[in-house]
Order: sequence, then C-alpha cells, then structure tokens
Amino acid sequence: MNHKNTENKHFIFGGCDMVKIAKQYKTPLYVVSEEIIHEKINEIKKDFLQKYSNTRAVYASKAFLTLEMCRILKKEGIGIDVVSGGELYTAIKADFPMENVIFHGNNKTLDEIELAVKSDVGRIVVDNFYELELIEKVAKDLEKKVKILFRITPGVDSHTHKYICTGQMDSKFGIPLVEEILHTGIIKTQNSSNIELIGFHFHVGSQLFENTSHIKAVDILLKLIKEVKDQVGFKTKELNIGGGFGIYYTEGDDPKPLKYFVDPIMEDLQKKCKELNIFVPKIIIEPGRWIIGEAGITLYTIGSIKEIPGVRTYVGIDGGMPDNPRPALYNAQYEGVIANKIDLPKSKVVTIAGKCCESGDILIWDLKVPKLESGDILAIKSTGAYNYSMSSNYNKLTRPAVVIVNKGVDRLMVRRETYDDLISRDI
Ligand code: LLP
Repeated sequence: MNHKNTENKHFIFGGCDMVKIAKQYKTPLYVVSEEIIHEKINEIKKDFLQKYSNTRAVYASKAFLTLEMCRILKKEGIGIDVVSGGELYTAIKADFPMENVIFHGNNKTLDEIELAVKSDVGRIVVDNFYELELIEKVAKDLEKKVKILFRITPGVDSHTHKYICTGQMDSKFGIPLVEEILHTGIIKTQNSSNIELIGFHFHVGSQLFENTSHIKAVDILLKLIKEVKDQVGFKTKELNIGGGFGIYYTEGDDPKPLKYFVDPIMEDLQKKCKELNIFVPKIIIEPGRWIIGEAGITLYTIGSIKEIPGVRTYVGIDGGMPDNPRPALYNAQYEGVIANKIDLPKSKVVTIAGKCCESGDILIWDLKVPKLESGDILAIKSTGAYNYSMSSNYNKLTRPAVVIVNKGVDRLMVRRETYDDLISRDI
C-alpha cells in the first residue's frame, strides 16, 4: 500500500505515515526501515569491504532475525552470525548460503553442532574445548572437514553496561589467553583430520562509542598470532574482530561512523604484521545493533493517563517489557515522539509505563510530550536491535507484528501473534 500523501503533522518513517500504519496494522507494532538497513550496508561496503582487500562483513543476527532479514542480507552479499540452532534454522529456511554463516555460542549443544556440520556452515567459532571434542566427533561421524576459529578472551574491558561487556578476562565467553591452554587446543586441531583451524575471533562488548577496546584487542591478537606461529607453527588466516559499534538512542549518545572503528585497525594492520613478520589475516567484522538498531521503531497506542498530583504522570501503553525488555534489563534509555502530534510544542513531562504487572515495566521515565489524549500514537525510536529478538509473552501478551517500510511503501514482515498462538504448544 502506498502512504506517500501524508499530513505534515504526522511522524514519517521510511516515507510512510506512522499514524496510518498504526491504524492499519494495529499496535504495538515494530516498524523497520529497509532504506536505513541499506544505508548501513552501503557504508560497510564503501568504508570497509571495498576500501580494504581481504575483508568480510557478517551481520550478528541475534539483534533481529526474520526470514526477510536473511533475504535482504543475502541479496547484499553480507554473511550472518548465528548463536543457536533456532537462528541457524531460520537462515536455512531462508535459503541463506551456508558458506556465509558463522556459528557462535558459548555452550553449543550436540544437536546444534550436528545441524551446523550437516548444513556445512562456513565457520564454527569454538568457545571451549568440550565443544571442540563434540565438533571433532560429529565431523568424523559425518565425514566432514569443519572450518573453525577459536574465540579468544582478549582481556580488555570496555566502557559499556556490565551485562554487555564481553572481552574482559573474567568472562563466560571464549578461551582465556593463557599459553598452555591455547597451545594444547591448537595442537589438537593440528592433529585432527576433521577440523581445520583458520584463525581467531574476539568480541569486546556492545554499544561502544570508543574504538580503544577494538584497537587494544587487535594488538593483543596480533601478538598472539605471532606467538603461535613461532611456538606451534600455526599460520592464522582469519581474524574476526566482532561487533559492538554503538548507535544513537538518546541525547548525549555519540555514535561514530564505521570508519572510526575500522580505519585505525586496517591502517595499522599491514605495518604491524610486517613488523611481527606474520601473514596479514583476513579481517571480519560482525555488527548487529549498528545495522538494525536505528532502522527500527515501535508504535504504541496510549491508553490510561494517570496524573499523581505533584508526583508524576504515568502514561499507559499497549506494550512494554515483553516487546522491549532493555530498559528493565540494562536501564536502557529511549526517545519517543507522539506520532500524531509531531508539530505540537512539548509542554509536559510524562513516564511511559508498560502494561505488565511489574513496577519495573517502565519504557521511558521522563519524556517530553505535547498535551496527550488517550488514543495518541507513541513512536519509540532505535528499537530495531534486541527488541523483537528479545521479546517474550510475559503476562501472555502477544508479540507485535513487524512491518517493513521503504520509500513510502509498507509490507508485513512478521504477522502479529494471536491468542491461539499463545496456547498452541500447550498439551
Ligand atoms: N559478535 C558476537 C560474538 C556477539 O556476541 C555480539 C553480541 C555481536 C557480534 C554483535 O554485537 P553488536 O554489534 O550488536 O553490539 N542484548 C544486549 C546486547 C547483547 C550483545 C551480545 N553479543 C542489548 O540489548 O544491548
């Protein structure tokens, strides 16, 4: 449907009038802009893939994954990182080229490993040596040769929420940077005819505005690459530097272009490898949030407006922590606008309350808004990453639909859950 003829006091996103979209598809509703996804991917192509040879980009699908998202990425030639059998299954069903799939996870089950090996995924990123044994066994039984990377904990701290910081030494992710542990692992792969170790991976954390953690971690990994070449004769072909590039949520956030992260790494790489007398590895990036975060918004309808004199005004919406658990989990901050009153002066400060039976189900504590009425449409911005993918059915709320918009045209990407969906697995 074409929604280009819009009144200018409505919020326009992806060329579509968000008030009309809310009426048409109902709320709560996730809306994703295909244009923004393409802009982000174009930036990756221009400032990374085409600028530097021997590079690859892979989308961290945990941020947001649907069949259509796989198709968009496939068309763009971007790979996918999956962390579970479920994510892998989605990629398989979308007919995604398996050689462009990287399989992550800190405790992959035997079933998941079997699915990955049978499907011939491009790389398995090995988190621990228990997993290495499982892969070896599965690969042997299936008579396959599996290409792997070792995930290394580089031992760098990042400035972000504790729950999304992953590169520090005390972490549940990855193989610690301890010589004997690593050498033993590498030697195991050298003696295996079903496993081929290609290189290393690290991921320092998420929602980062500074490049220092990535730069430090690359330095540490290059030294490791040199050390394992000299000590155990292992030649590293790939270095995957993870994702983590920050995006804009609220005032004060200072997101950087991709080149701010990759330029210093790529510019130094040749020089450092020459100094260390090592082969220049292929560099892979794995952004999730950076590609999809700002491409998504969520629309809600305002219901109750409860003014507690002298205290605050609670504005009740038809969604909340089941469609966006991030404020409750990470104290994440969001901005929002009243989509049908985009031009009106903001004269009030209100609190946006979700509809769950939890006092912590607040999406925004202090939002400046124009005078509100029940039935107004609230659009919360930058909800593309880790909202749909982290959604739940708490309080038996049905998950919202996902609509994709592009240059004034909208289409349904995921249908809304129904009450029957909620009980469809009950016996
Ligand atoms: N690669 C690996 C191995 C990862 O673990 C992650 C994220 C990424 C790439 C992508 O990171 P990104 O570019 O999206 O920052 N649920 C949290 C975020 C958890 C991120 C986990 N790993 C949140 O809502 O903030």
